[in-house]
Amino acid sequence: MELLKQKIIDSAEVLPGGVLKVDSFLNHQIDVTFVSKLAEEWYRLFKEERITKILTIESAGIGLASITALLFKVPVVYAKKTRNAALGDEYLSTKVISYTHGQSYDVFLAKNLINKDDRILILDDFLANGSALKVLIQLAEMGGAEVVGTTVAIEKSYLGGGDDIRALGYRLESLVKIKELNDKEIAFED
Ligand code: G4P
Repeated sequence: MELLKQKIIDSAEVLPGGVLKVDSFLNHQIDVTFVSKLAEEWYRLFKEERITKILTIESAGIGLASITALLFKVPVVYAKKTRNAALGDEYLSTKVISYTHGQSYDVFLAKNLINKDDRILILDDFLANGSALKVLIQLAEMGGAEVVGTTVAIEKSYLGGGDDIRALGYRLESLVKIKELNDKEIAFED
């Protein structure tokens, strides 16, 4: 998506360790007018899929999913990285091993929010090694739902997480794919 590539070129910064800082529009600060353009593209890609819910993970995914859900007219369900009292005893949970963060953590999803009639679109901001998307797929399927698509704004394709998800047979659409990232260059796939 040219619009997103240009935004990254104009306003993103590369931090040590290959982290792309997109704080002015995607994380920490969300440019909702800009993100609504991403949402239109997500809607165009998945509008035939009879999506019933968009599933994401806290925190950055929630804003993007919510703006997108306005077009699909479906609820957003999000997985949490901490289990608070409001979750009660009825939840699905699984462990994530994050390569990016070098640690493992548990992820929780309220059990009554996903069921076998759901056709789920999984949406997040970044795909790095893919732990977050894989865990969301697992939680949706534990709840009996069908994952009809997965999507992110930015895939760091050189890390291979996206290839893993495609190899498992899931539809994955990334609005831009970065094939190389260093302090001198952000190289995009065509
Ligand atoms: P992993 O397997 O290496 O853990 O990668 P994964 O694709 O699951 O991404 C892990 C988290 O790291 C995600 O955050 C993702 O947004 C974030 N991330 C990965 N690469 C970058 C990057 O270059 N820049 C930024 N800004 N974030 C990156 P999350 O689990 O959804 O949590 P949150 O950060 O939204 O709270």
